[in-house]
Amino acid sequence: MDESRLVAAAVEARGKAYAPYSGFAVGAALLSKGGRVFTGCNVENASYGLTVCAERVALFKAVSEGVREFEAIAVACGDAPCSPCGACRQALYEFAPELKVVLADGQGRRGETMPLSQLLPNAFGPSHLEG
Ligand code: THU
Repeated sequence: MDESRLVAAAVEARGKAYAPYSGFAVGAALLSKGGRVFTGCNVENASYGLTVCAERVALFKAVSEGVREFEAIAVACGDAPCSPCGACRQALYEFAPELKVVLADGQGRRGETMPLSQLLPNAFGPSHLEG
């Protein structure tokens, strides 16, 4: 799948964001190695700390469907591209240390693309729990 379609899926998912408290809608589209796309949006809560970011919604949808290998994620934010928060970087790293991260604004205008390893250098991962 080309990246512009993945970005378009993130923009569409952003339209479903439930963000009445921050007013900041985010959409994500996660591409599996098998070519499936899992989308997510941020889901806020009156108990603010329960909010879940778009990226983790997409990731957990995929993993809960039995999919654990990923190629890329597109993230669509508001007026300017934003990159995944630290918690989402860590959650994504668990499954895809070399994931391609494609940033876009809410209109689908592309920002930077970089590997997740660049966003989370010296990451803690599953291998650290061995031995
Ligand atoms: N948010 C995401 O969905 N993804 C990110 O990577 C950064 C932040 C959401 C969480 C919250 O609903 C809103 O954006 C403002 O922080």
